[in-house]
Formats: sequence, structure tokens, C-alpha cells
Amino acid sequence: MVNVDPAGQEMRELDVLLRLGSLHTPMAVRVAATLRLVDHINAGTTSPAELAKVTGTNQNALLRLIRHLVAVGVLAETGPGRLTPTKTGMLLANDHPAQQRAWFDLNNAVSRADLAFFQLLAAVQTGNPTYESVYGRTFYEDLTANPRLAESFDVLMACDEDVVYDAPAAAYDWSHARHVMDVGGGIGGFLTAIARAAPHVRGTLLELALPTERARAQFKAAGLDDRLDAVAGDFFQPLPVKADVITLSFVLLNWSDDNARRILRRCTDALTPGGRIVVLERDDLVEDASNEQFTLLDLRMLVFLGGRLRTRDEWSTFASSAGLTVESARKVASPSVPFDLSLLVLAPNGATT
Ligand SMILES: C[S@@+](CC[C@H](N)C(=O)[O-])C[C@H]1O[C@@H](n2cnc3c(N)ncnc32)[C@H](O)[C@@H]1O
Repeated sequence: MVNVDPAGQEMRELDVLLRLGSLHTPMAVRVAATLRLVDHINAGTTSPAELAKVTGTNQNALLRLIRHLVAVGVLAETGPGRLTPTKTGMLLANDHPAQQRAWFDLNNAVSRADLAFFQLLAAVQTGNPTYESVYGRTFYEDLTANPRLAESFDVLMACDEDVVYDAPAAAYDWSHARHVMDVGGGIGGFLTAIARAAPHVRGTLLELALPTERARAQFKAAGLDDRLDAVAGDFFQPLPVKADVITLSFVLLNWSDDNARRILRRCTDALTPGGRIVVLERDDLVEDASNEQFTLLDLRMLVFLGGRLRTRDEWSTFASSAGLTVESARKVASPSVPFDLSLLVLAPNGATT
């Protein structure tokens, strides 16, 4: 006979619900990341009283935060007043190879933007982003006005970029392209990988002013400044040069369909005859464990910018509404990304072979 334990089962489900629904643990983890508690402990400051001193926090309040971090398994007590990070807690060390601490640091652009989730109800009711109602400016206006915040965003976007972009750069045949323009190309990681994969290619990066400066420095440091250049501009305006291939890596997801169409039209207008637009993003929503990465990014796009991830089915309708056809779409596995990337090749209508 099967031993059914409805009360026990209900308790476990209640436990899951409490963990899913609680706001305090995610905030406690972010405060720990912002105060660099794990780095301080690893450096030998292991008691709550000493930790309060080095972090400039209230001793009693910090002790209570630490007690919660111990209760949820981020820290452990090895003796009276002696703390150590657990395996999970170690992920919050600044130099951990997984490079997660900066994503949770409330002073950095993404974790700070996550605080706009407290207005998620309004975003769901209206379909509009909530970032501006919390911070008084749209997301990219805020970065432009705060160079330190902008730098933190560029660093997060560029994390592991020396390996992330190699696979997508190798996945496309650049032999027909002489000039590639990477629109909204960040600080140049994708264009650098393309230039290495295709030594005959010249490249132009189009970005906001601050990332443009960093991209130029990166091209110089990589010894590619004879082939790669960065131009400050606005992808909602006519693009500054023509190109055979225009790449958009994790750009269109930031924008609503109307705004993403405006960007695509600017790109189409800047293509040389026979040119293609190559989009690097995610377009899968399948039954696997990485779905939560997709839905999390999708909800962030709603709350931060009113943008959205598009599934493969949505892509063909959306591309056609911008006068484009999805010529091909393929998955690209890339190390250090916890999901497959998607490389979509878009051709202006009537140009497909
Ligand atoms: C999510 S990031 C992606 C960066 C890079 N392509 C990558 O794959 O990591 C989007 C980029 O769009 C840029 N951007 C936002 N608004 C822009 C605009 N109006 N014109 C040009 N670039 C813009 C941002 O500065 C940012 O670097």
C-alpha cells in the first residue's frame, strides 16, 4: 500500500511557496554581496562584531542579517562568533570564477534595476516598464547620466566575453562580408571575436558615447584597431555607414516590438545590396531546466525597458512585420553561458535565395 502523507506533502509545498514568495532572502543575499561579507570572511574577519566594523554597519542589525544567512545556508557558524561561507556562499566571493557577486551588488546597474521589480504589478497591469517610475529616468538615460553605473553595466555585459562570443562568431560564414557593423555592440566583445574569426573583415561598432570609448581601447589593446573602429551614435537615427552584415547582439530584447522594428528598419537601410542582419539572442522556450533563465531575462526586459524576449515562432511574425524574413536560425552552445544562444539571420524581404 502506498503511504500517502497529505499533511507532510502540504508542509513541503508550503515550504516551497514560502521560499518562492519571500522577498527577504533575495534582499539579504544582495546586501551580503554589496557588503562583500564573503570576501571579508575569507580575508580573516570572521566575527559579526569585526564584520560590522569593516563594513561600517550597525552591529546588531548585521548580526541579525548574518543569522538569516546562516539559516538559509549562505554562511555557517564554525564556532561561537566564527563564520565561514558555505559552498553556495563561496559563490559570492568577488574572485570566484563564476563571477556572480557583481550581479547581486546593489550598487551595480543590474541588481539596482532589479529593485524596480517591486512595481511588477504595475508592469503586468500596463505592459510598461517600471524603471523610470522608480529612478526618474529610463534605464539607458540613467546609465548615460551615471558614468559609474554605466561602467558597472558594461563590465557585467562583458563578463567572460573573451570566450562567450567565439562560438557565435565561428557559427556564421563571413566570407561574403567585407564590412560588418555591430549595432549596440557594447564594448566590442562580439566584434573582436568576429574580426579574429574572419581576418579579412573590417568592422564598425555603433554605440552610446561611453561604451564607444571603451570599445576603442579594447580594439587597440587587441591589436585590431587597424580593422575595427567605434562610432558614437543612436540606433534610432540613420546609421553612419553602410555594411554587408549588421549584427545585433542582445539588443532587440531590450525593446518593445515598435522600438525594435525602428532599429531593424535603420539596420535594413544601412545594408549594402545582398546584405544580412545577424541577431544573437535567445529564442527558445522549451521544457528544460534553462527555461527559468529565459523567463527571468524576459521579465527583466519588461520591468527595466518594456522589452521582451521573442520565441522562434514569434520571431518569424515579428521579422516579417519589419519587412524581413528569418533566413536561418540555429542554436549555438557557448561556454560559461548557462543556456544556448540563438543566431538568427534576417534578410530583407525579397532578398532570400
Ligand atoms: C544589453 S546591451 C548588449 C551589448 C552587447 N551587444 C553584448 O552583446 O553584450 C545593449 C546595448 O545597447 C546600447 N544602446 C542602448 N541604447 C542605444 C542607442 N539608442 N543607440 C546605440 N546603442 C544603444 C547600450 O549601450 C548597450 O551596450
